[in-house]
Order: sequence, then structure tokens, then C-alpha cells
Amino acid sequence: MSKGKILLTGAAGYIGSHTWVQLSEAGYDVVGVDNFYNSERNVIGRIEKILGKTVNFEEIDCSDRDAFSKVFQKHPDIVGAVHFAACKAVGESIDKPLLYYRNNIVSLLNLISLMNEQAEKANIVFSSSCTVYGQPDKEHLPIAENAPLKRSLSPYGKSKQMAEEILSDSVIAFPELKVCALRYFNPIGAHPSALIGELPRGVPQNLVPFVTQTAAGIRDHLNVFGNDYNTPDGSCIRDYIYVVDLANAHVKAIDKLLSSTDSNANNHTIEEPTYIEAAKTGRWFVYNLGTGKGLSVLELVNGFMKATGVNLPYQIAPRRQGDIEQVWADPKKAERELGWKADTPIEDVLRSAWNWQKSLG
Ligand code: NAD
Ligand code: WQD
Repeated sequence: MSKGKILLTGAAGYIGSHTWVQLSEAGYDVVGVDNFYNSERNVIGRIEKILGKTVNFEEIDCSDRDAFSKVFQKHPDIVGAVHFAACKAVGESIDKPLLYYRNNIVSLLNLISLMNEQAEKANIVFSSSCTVYGQPDKEHLPIAENAPLKRSLSPYGKSKQMAEEILSDSVIAFPELKVCALRYFNPIGAHPSALIGELPRGVPQNLVPFVTQTAAGIRDHLNVFGNDYNTPDGSCIRDYIYVVDLANAHVKAIDKLLSSTDSNANNHTIEEPTYIEAAKTGRWFVYNLGTGKGLSVLELVNGFMKATGVNLPYQIAPRRQGDIEQVWADPKKAERELGWKADTPIEDVLRSAWNWQKSLG
């Protein structure tokens, strides 16, 4: 018996593909959509291999409302959506702001209106990001959901802030709409099957794909950007969260939206000053998704060598412009209200990233 039909946008991407697997294994019937802008067609077959069954998939661009609408015509029994589809490269967004605003915002507007007009139930889980907090002040560490949202420096970050505004205004305007915004910290690692994982295009900008490519000999060495920060070992600190743990949080978020009713909807903490009006509806939820533990770049590099036994050549390089010194999550609200916790040991996570890299040949 299916727990309900869930639409996944950006379903062939890194986090989308892992969430597809976890949602299906939890008993949901998934309809995936993607335009393969930043993913490969063969991901769909790999998901089928993991699940041992064929899956429902439509190749469409979510910013094309007519094409997107046809998915709802075909699946009028959709009861929830997880919206991953977006462009996500911070640096690229500075050079191509219109691409980022058009893709990330228009796709979201289409999703909200189509969920309202054509879905059986309008429940949306949105992929937000810790980037909405900007450069946090030290006194706000670890970052809870009520930390100030500072103006983001990149169009990518601003598109996430705007998306949260659009969704929270929509919750106030549309009484059937329920939204859960999930603010991810730094997702890493790959599915234990090593059939799906992160597929960076060109030279990786993110730390872990660069680490695994260096370990595989594709890159000469890793540059550690800065060892003169005000942190214990001088390198930057982040909250690295295993992508499968992260995927499971989406299952919990969908469970929560589907089970929350008007009578229990107010059973959650209203802490976020920015979205107080939306939160009062009882149909707006925000959660930080991280481990609650900060790890420095050098700790991650040493942890990788220890977990895999592979040598990783690295050099200390100048700071990377725009980097935040240290940021990690306070995930207690997600634990309290979603019953979710990221608990995979970092060694296992780093080994999964390495196994994925090796599977790419
Ligand atoms: P990804 O690029 O691997 O996945 C996004 C998927 O969306 C891709 O498969 C891409 O082809 C698809 N897509 C993009 N625009 C589309 C459109 N208009 N129509 C249909 N499909 C479209 O990225 P990811 O790392 O899996 O990220 C998923 C979401 O999580 C994004 O919204 C991203 O901003 C957010 N997020 C990611 C991170 C991270 O570090 N990976 C952190 C915080 C938030
Ligand atoms: C992590 C640490 C680098 C590469 C980005 C986005 C953010 C969010 C998550 C989407 C930093 C250091 C990196 C390298 C290094 N994404 N590093 N050498 O910058 O925390 O966040 O992904 O919402 O919005 O900005 O992640 O993986 O790029 O960097 O030393 O070759 O690794 O300086 O301290 P970041 P990252």
C-alpha cells in the first residue's frame, strides 16, 4: 500500500536521487522530474537498479509551466512535492544572475501554483540552504532557525532567500498550502551502493569532490583555502552532513506535512522572527539540517586519509574570497519536531564518497 504520490523536481540530481530512493523505500510512490541540466540520464536506471523496480519519470523543465502542468494532468493524485530543481553554483550565479533568478524563481512559482490548482494536496518541501544566514556572528553559533537572516552576497543565495519569502507569503494567502523549508548545511557522501552520488561538472568547487578526485589522481593536490582563520587549526569549519541522512529528513518532512492537521498544526515552536506571520498559520515550518558538529577542512582531510588509507596530497593556499570562517547547525528543532537526527559516523560518510569516486573509474 502506497503512503501517497510524491513529486520530486530535480530528481536526477545529487540530493534528489538519494531522496528518491529513501522516499520509495519508506513506502511513497515517487514521480521524478528533471531536465538533466546538471545531471545524467543514466541516474534513472541506477535508481531503478537500487530499488529493483521501474520508476515514474518525466523529462521536463519546471520553468516551462505548460510542460510542468502535463505532469499534474497525468498524476492528479499527487499529495506532496519536494522541490530540488534549481541552479546551485554560487560563483556561477554571480556571472549569470538572470539564469539563476529565472530558473530558481520561475520554477518555484510554477510549482506553487500547480500544486494549488492541480494537486490533490498542496504540501511542499523546499530545498533551502544555510546560505540564507550569510556570514553568521560568532554568538549565533551553532546556528538555530531564529538566527538572523543576513543579506546574501550571491544571486544563488538571494534566490533561496526570495524563495523562502515567496513560499511564506503563499502560505498566508492559500489556506490549503503547507510548506516545510529545509536549510541544508554541507551535504557530502554517496549511497552505500555507489550507484548514485555527486557528479560535479568540470573542476569541483566543493571540498569533498575535490578531495576524492585528488585521491584518485585526477587532481595534483588539494588547496586548503586558508590556515589563518580564527579557528583551532586555522582552517574553516563547516557542518558536513551525509546525503542519505539528509534524504531521510525529507521523508520525515513529508510525513509531517501529510499528518499535520488544523488541530495539531500549532504543535511546533514559532521562533523565526522573519516569518512569524506564516508560522502563525501552523502551515509553515523551517528546519536546519546538519549534524550539530563543526569540522575543519584539515580535520576532514586527515579524516579522509584515516578512513580510506589513501594519501591525499594537499597544500595550504590563500583564503578563498567570500568564504565564511565557521558555521555549523543547531539541528535540535529538527530532532524535536521531525524525529530526525544525522547519525552516520563521518568515517563511513567519507568512505562512501571514496567508493563513489572509485566507481566512476
Ligand atoms: P544538483 O544540481 O545535483 O540537482 C539539481 C537537479 O535539478 C539537477 O538534476 C538539474 O538537472 C535539475 N534542474 C535544474 N533546473 C531544473 C529545471 N528548471 N527543471 C527541471 N530540473 C531542473 O543539486 P543538488 O546538490 O542535488 O541540490 C538540490 C537542491 O538543494 C538545490 O535546490 C540546491 O540549491 C539545494 N542545496 C544544495 C546544497 C549542496 O551543497 N548540494 C546545499 C544547500 C541547498
Ligand atoms: C567547504 C570548505 C572551503 C574547496 C557551499 C555553498 C553553500 C552551500 C554549500 C548550497 C570551505 C574549503 C573547498 C577546496 C578548500 N550550497 N575548500 N579547498 O563554501 O561551505 O558552501 O556549499 O546551498 O551555499 O557556498 O562549501 O565545499 O565549497 O567548501 O579548502 O578545493 O572547504 O574554503 O572552507 P561551502 P565548499
